[in-house]
Amino acid sequence: MLFRQFFDATSSTYTYLLASGKGREGLIIDPVKEQANQYLTAIEQLDLKLVRAIDTHTHADHVTALGDLREATGCMTLMGEFTQAECVSAHVSEDDIVDVDGIKLRAIYTPGHTNESFSFLLDPDKPKGVFTGDVLLIRGTGRTDFQGGDPHRSWDSIVNKLFFLPEDTLLWPAHDYKGWTASSIGEEKAHNPRLAGKTEAEYVEIMRNLHLPDPKLMDVAIPANLACGRG
Ligand code: FE2
Repeated sequence: MLFRQFFDATSSTYTYLLASGKGREGLIIDPVKEQANQYLTAIEQLDLKLVRAIDTHTHADHVTALGDLREATGCMTLMGEFTQAECVSAHVSEDDIVDVDGIKLRAIYTPGHTNESFSFLLDPDKPKGVFTGDVLLIRGTGRTDFQGGDPHRSWDSIVNKLFFLPEDTLLWPAHDYKGWTASSIGEEKAHNPRLAGKTEAEYVEIMRNLHLPDPKLMDVAIPANLACGRG
């Protein structure tokens, strides 16, 4: 399998490009508008045909490249069924399978960071890894204080859905701020400081007391992302 992780330093976003191999159809998850040319270079050099561009949720900290990639490659843009983004060409619901030339992803509805976030499980029959967007991060979790976020739903998505995946399932989040590039479900169960050994009430208390500033790009990014990166 061809697996590439890209990093946008401005927003600390990870983007993932997947394909069964060189010359095959591919898909991209959580692409950043400013990095679109880098993805297109990789796609061209690896002789891929991009057929799906996926956003796990409506991002507040960067503008999506979904619209630009669709224009450049003719790929289909895809998000979860509850998104308000107006120009998404296809929506997924719980347990839908996205199948791109041998790469299979199962959609898992994981609200909490936003009310429309989905995670995507790679190789659902024998789980290899899960793209969690921002609901579950490495040794952290996505904030729950705007965009329909809810710490109870975040707990439920993580503890009652993601933590039921096999422990060796790799975790590929949409962000990291400390240089971690991947983790696993077992690692996060044991070592995530917001979750390990915590009750739901304790988790909710932690999330309600983060007092984070709004993302710098929030007022630009959310309206632009609802329009697929035009704005
Ligand atoms: Fe987010």
